Order: sequence, then structure tokens, then C-alpha cells
Amino acid sequence: MRILVIHGPNLNLLGRREPAIYGYDTLADIEVRLRARAGELAVDLDTFQSNHEGAIVDRIQAAVLAEPHADGLVINPAAYTHTSVAIRDAIAAVALPAWEVHLSDPATREGFRRVSYVRDVCVGHTAGRGADGYLEALAGLVEHLRGPGART
Ligand code: DQA
Repeated sequence: MRILVIHGPNLNLLGRREPAIYGYDTLADIEVRLRARAGELAVDLDTFQSNHEGAIVDRIQAAVLAEPHADGLVINPAAYTHTSVAIRDAIAAVALPAWEVHLSDPATREGFRRVSYVRDVCVGHTAGRGADGYLEALAGLVEHLRGPGART
């Protein structure tokens, strides 16, 4: 089983970006922990970060169009969560189970963060758990994929 983890804009600045909100872990720190968890779960992991909406759409499409195919997505669309019909449509188009994750809890922040365009095309979501949320998202997605009626 192969899982693609996608990080949206400004997440490359984790560790120095508003640490009171997002913590001091860098994206590299989070990916080390994700790879360890993936090993425990016996799944392969690909990761991708972009500050560009179209690049994220292209990477989601490549999960089904290019080898190696992914079986599911963990995605933190970051600010695009609240704006991007294109990313939502890409998730729906590839029809892969996807799990939405946020370090902070957008529901408790500014009003414009309360809308998620991807929420209802995802099989689950995790928010407000910091870096641990990525590990929980990965485990939740793998459990979903391995559940009754799963393909893999
Ligand atoms: C975020 C929350 C978003 O509202 C914000 O735009 C981000 C990060 C999070 O992980 O908490 O960039 O997705």
C-alpha cells in the first residue's frame, strides 16, 4: 500500500512560521516521524509540498496517472483548504480515499478558516493536534483502506 502526503502553501516554513500556532517542528521533522509511522504500518510513503495550487492539482492527478500509483492521500491543503475548488475537484476526480489534516484547529480561528472545500470529499479529518495529527491521519487512512471491503 502506498500513501501520498501532500503539504500546501507555507508549510515549508514550519518551525519558523508562527510557532505559537503551528509549533516548532519543521516539515522535515514531521516527515521523519511520518516515515517511522509508515514503517510500523508497513506502508510506502511519498511526500510532496508546494506553494502552488496547480502543482498540487497536478500531483494529486499523478497519484493515479503515473507510476507508482498511490492508494490514498493525506492532505494538508493549508490556506487552499478555504479557497480551492480545484483541489477539491482533483481529490474527487482521482477517487482516492483522502484524509484532511491541519496542525491547528481552523474551526477555532478566524471566520474565513471555518469553511473547508475538501472536507466532504475526504473520508476523515484531523485538526488541532499539531504534528501528531499527521501520524493520526496516516493511521486513520490506512485503517480505512484496510477496513471491510477495502481493495488493498
Ligand atoms: C493549516 C490551517 C490553515 O487555515 C492555514 O492557512 C495553514 C495551515 C494548519 O495546518 O493548521 O496554512 O492548514
